[in-house]
Amino acid sequence: MCGIVGYVGPNDTVDVLLNGLRRLEYRGYDSAGIAVIDASGEVSVRKRAGKLARLEELLEASPVSATGTGIGHTRWATHGGPTDENAHPHLGDGGKLALIHNGIVENFVELRGELEADGITLISDTDTEVVAALVGREVARQGDLETAFRAVVARLRGTFTLLAMHRDEPGKVVSARHHSPLVVGLGEGENFLGSDVAAFVSSTRRAVAVDEDNIAIITPDEVRITDFAGNPVEFTEYEVEWDATASEKGGWSSFMAKEINDQPEAVDNTLRGRITGDHVEIPELTELGDDLLRDIERVVIIACGTASYAGQIAAYAIEQWARIPAEVQLSHEFRYRDPVLTERTLVISVSQSGETMDTLMAVKYASEHGARTVSVCNTQSATIPRESDAVVYTHAGPEVAVASTKAFVAQITALYLVGLHLGHVRGTLSAEASAQAVRQFEALPAKVREAVETHEQIEQLAHWMADTRSVLFLGRHVGYPVALEGALKLKEIAYIHAEGFAAGELKHGPIALIDHGQPVFVLVPSPRTAPIMHSKVVSNIQEIRARGARVIAIVEKGDTAVLPFADDVIRLPLADVFFEPILQVIPLQWFALELSTAKGLDVDQPRNLAKSVTVE
Ligand code: F6R
Repeated sequence: MCGIVGYVGPNDTVDVLLNGLRRLEYRGYDSAGIAVIDASGEVSVRKRAGKLARLEELLEASPVSATGTGIGHTRWATHGGPTDENAHPHLGDGGKLALIHNGIVENFVELRGELEADGITLISDTDTEVVAALVGREVARQGDLETAFRAVVARLRGTFTLLAMHRDEPGKVVSARHHSPLVVGLGEGENFLGSDVAAFVSSTRRAVAVDEDNIAIITPDEVRITDFAGNPVEFTEYEVEWDATASEKGGWSSFMAKEINDQPEAVDNTLRGRITGDHVEIPELTELGDDLLRDIERVVIIACGTASYAGQIAAYAIEQWARIPAEVQLSHEFRYRDPVLTERTLVISVSQSGETMDTLMAVKYASEHGARTVSVCNTQSATIPRESDAVVYTHAGPEVAVASTKAFVAQITALYLVGLHLGHVRGTLSAEASAQAVRQFEALPAKVREAVETHEQIEQLAHWMADTRSVLFLGRHVGYPVALEGALKLKEIAYIHAEGFAAGELKHGPIALIDHGQPVFVLVPSPRTAPIMHSKVVSNIQEIRARGARVIAIVEKGDTAVLPFADDVIRLPLADVFFEPILQVIPLQWFALELSTAKGLDVDQPRNLAKSVTVE
């Protein structure tokens, strides 16, 4: 979704803004622009539809020398297509004010009508230009930016992060948030605003998360935060855990390739500090109180997309270890089914970004209806953890590629830790089972590294299958959500039709899809730890093979039962059944990446998708 950066300070403003926008590119966008106060003291805007390179070309052809105040934006179109006119920033007050926006202003039609009745002509189709014109009109009436901005913000409905600057108040950028993220970066003699810390982390790691319905005003020497009424609000700063290099590609061909490789460390970092001897203890959950956890009657995991598949996998484990019924619901469906929630319901949200609007709204709904909420999140101080009773951070580091990889394995890891913690506190997990899980965890990062090394084999496979138009994925039990995730990855970045099925469901319909040469990835459970499921999956393989499928079997090393029926076999290290998904998903991630590459597509920024979905 849209990326936002604001800057006041002595450094080259255009450079600072472009650098910030470059680091926000991962969020997904279709146009980009900046506004600065130029050497003649006027507001200068440069904006273009398309990628940042097009904006840079424009800046080369038509340079601007800025004097230390600027705002920059990458737009993911909502109101009006991705055109030069619709790109942000938008102007108000006869070009003296510039404004950028992330989100959707729901009452913009009514506000637009009001402006038009007032004789103000708007040139774009956006809701944002309406806000710029309103603030501009208000500045002309009231005389100062802050008062005008506050007056307009109070009238808006919907979701927004807004940044504005005015020619008559150089060295100042005002900003507001309502259901959309905003962070301040604290520098020495300079300050920043961003939709996330990536906007400024190459300059400073000191950050302040702006709270809901607050306004932040930055000048080079001061940061002030108020509520919408103008009352001062106290704030605390935090240090961003990662530095700028963590969100750089390094020598990798894509961020996704880098992030697949990061997975052993992502798992390791998520485990750190959460295992005590032979059992799991998560300090963040201990703070909730053991009595509360012992009283929980039901766990509901809410999430979207990949995060929901992590939840589906973990639900099996939580139910087994903590003996609590556990289910997964898509965040965007959750509220509409009028769910049964009590104070003994534990709602666990899973979100890499911590800003997904559907999940945020579901968390708020759960809290308002009396449930306890825990967030599993990868982004420090994001909105969802701040709305939850407790947070268990995944420490996967920044995930830049739109397709989630390392966050997924870290989410499963964190959710398993939650399940083991609950099992320990509630006394449902035997000492032996706990010790066994701990041993599995300890060996996991090295096994994940081995799974990452399947890359070469998968590269070959993808090369042979470059013309494939449809791929199916089959799994049972925890392998089923892995099949769904494998299919999602392929759809997202290789634009190939793909479906994931529960292997047992095959005979109830989907087997009709099997035709000669149809590729099917099958996630084969361990014959040692899940012998019954293993034999059922081997039967499923025989059924599809008999109908002409090309079978790619993902098995644990030493499993020879599938060899007679598989066209390709990918071998993974031995692991207990719950730990297999963390390994099995890795060849599927590589497969999607390699097919996308073979088709010449943009692996990191697939069409129509945004990294962080901040609208419902
Ligand atoms: C797929 C993917 C998405 C996200 C989903 C939730 O690769 O990344 O399906 O998992 O949009 O995002 P978060 O985890 O940020 O809430």
